[in-house]
Amino acid sequence: MYFTKEDIDHRRQRLSTKWNEVLSKGEAVLVYAGGPIQKPGGLDNTYTYLPHPSYYWLTGRRREEEVILYSVDTGWVEFQKVLGKETAFWEGEKHDVLVSVPGKSLEELEAFLKKYTTVYKLGQTPEYIKEGKAFTLNTLLDQTRRVKDNAEIKLIREIADIAVHGYKKIAEVLRPGITEREIQIAYEAEIFRNGAQTTPYDSIVGSGPNSAILHFAPSKRVVGEKELVLVDAGADIYDYCVDITRTFISSGEIEGRQKALYQLVKLVQDYCTKLTKPGAYWRDIHNKAAALFTEGLLNLGILKGNLSDLIAQEVVSMFFPHGLGHLVGLRVRDTGQEENLHPKTYFGARLRVDIQLEPGHLITMEPGMYFIKPLLEDADNKKKFKDCINWQELEHWMNIGGVRIEDNLLLTDTGNDNLTSRIPKLSV
Ligand code: GLY
Ligand code: MN
Ligand code: MN
Repeated sequence: MYFTKEDIDHRRQRLSTKWNEVLSKGEAVLVYAGGPIQKPGGLDNTYTYLPHPSYYWLTGRRREEEVILYSVDTGWVEFQKVLGKETAFWEGEKHDVLVSVPGKSLEELEAFLKKYTTVYKLGQTPEYIKEGKAFTLNTLLDQTRRVKDNAEIKLIREIADIAVHGYKKIAEVLRPGITEREIQIAYEAEIFRNGAQTTPYDSIVGSGPNSAILHFAPSKRVVGEKELVLVDAGADIYDYCVDITRTFISSGEIEGRQKALYQLVKLVQDYCTKLTKPGAYWRDIHNKAAALFTEGLLNLGILKGNLSDLIAQEVVSMFFPHGLGHLVGLRVRDTGQEENLHPKTYFGARLRVDIQLEPGHLITMEPGMYFIKPLLEDADNKKKFKDCINWQELEHWMNIGGVRIEDNLLLTDTGNDNLTSRIPKLSV
């Protein structure tokens, strides 16, 4: 059992205090768990069921179709599913209910709702409306649950420890001659052996030029001598997770251009980690990373011209095309995207979160520098950045691939605690 009744009560208390400020008598909020999604053409074959994270956070329960209600008049009322005999013989007794608090039967919900004049529907339901009071309630819920409580932090630390085993295993097996797929298998077997329930996203393993493909699915490619190998792989227990990237060298010491690239990414990660503290705006930290990368690329001779012009022209988007990070913890994309209804781009990257940081937030710090052929060989980009990029020099870098380093930072009262720092990086 990962969460106790007290943990759940405490969460509900934190949220109801905020909701009470906007809710009137006669209004109710429902948060739906949602149901399994059928595979295309699969008839009774569904994807693995995942409860909506808001429902799961409020109940600790993982049973499909359930609903929790809140109103000023009644407080929290759970409407639970009574498992039929069918489930008993197809799936066995369900062991995945983390907290068991008796509730009403789901069948009583309709009659119960009759006493309310207005019902706001949140969670996994097509009836959720992204505007008005429903949106306000949902935003308050997201803002509350993104501040991780002690039980969640304890669980996420355990998951980070599991990932440490996985990354140690990679360091053991990595050598020229191994395939990307074998690296994935070694990592995943090790985290499962150490208690991970699943992976929070498809593990990414890219070697050599493949390390420049942001979400590369491990292939049969055989790793060569002295190649960069980028592994972005996490671990998950009941939807709580970590999201980690390390870039390795397949043999020998990292040197030359590969080392220069790694040093630059490491420098940006270290610098931006120091900026990650309560009160800071995430966009400002991302923008700082983009400026530092531009300066680094200029120093390496890959860019040419005047630094402030290069920053203004956003040429860095050709080498760092993604945001610096996203909230993580309960799912690999934790809250934040919903509020970002009209996302702006910053240096060519659409940030997944555009928020001010607070203690208790958990955010990835994942700068990366890549030589991405679809971007750098694109005719329009070549024209646009004709005078910013030293195309001759670039030739020497094109097959290196890329470097990303990703850690998970828990915001404290004064700064942050890196929950994934125990996973080694290259010393450069
Ligand atoms: N694991 C994908 C990402 O870094 O967001
Ligand atoms: Mn990642
Ligand atoms: Mn990430």
